[in-house]
Amino acid sequence: MKILVINGPNLNLLGEREPGIYGNDTLESLCGEISQRAAELGFECDFFQSNHEGAIIDTLHAARLEYDGIIINAGAYTHYSYAIRDAIAAIHIPVIEVHISNVHTREEFRHHSVISPVCTGVIAGLGKKSYLCALEYFR
Ligand code: DQA
Repeated sequence: MKILVINGPNLNLLGEREPGIYGNDTLESLCGEISQRAAELGFECDFFQSNHEGAIIDTLHAARLEYDGIIINAGAYTHYSYAIRDAIAAIHIPVIEVHISNVHTREEFRHHSVISPVCTGVIAGLGKKSYLCALEYFR
């Protein structure tokens, strides 16, 4: 099982970005924990982060030929990127949408995800465990 974890805009600043909402872990330490769990499960796991919509779309396209599944935190693109939604719809591997925070308890614009309808599942509000739970799906 080969999994790609994609993190979108501003997630490179985890640890210093709004720690009351997103916690104190850096992206590096988060990816380290995911890697560790993936290894325990016998999975190969790669990581990609970008603040750029097109780079995320290119990565989704390329991933369709190389990975068995994707875990994506599209950051704020979640709420309005029809282009990322279409890229997910275009590829035929399972994509799990994750969020660190519970988007439904936050500002109204975060309550709607344009990517959820084309994702296999959605996990939000469990902090870093959102990613770890998504990994379990692929067992
Ligand atoms: C987020 C929630 C989004 O609304 C926000 O724009 C993010 C992070 C989360 O992981 O909780 O950048 O996806």
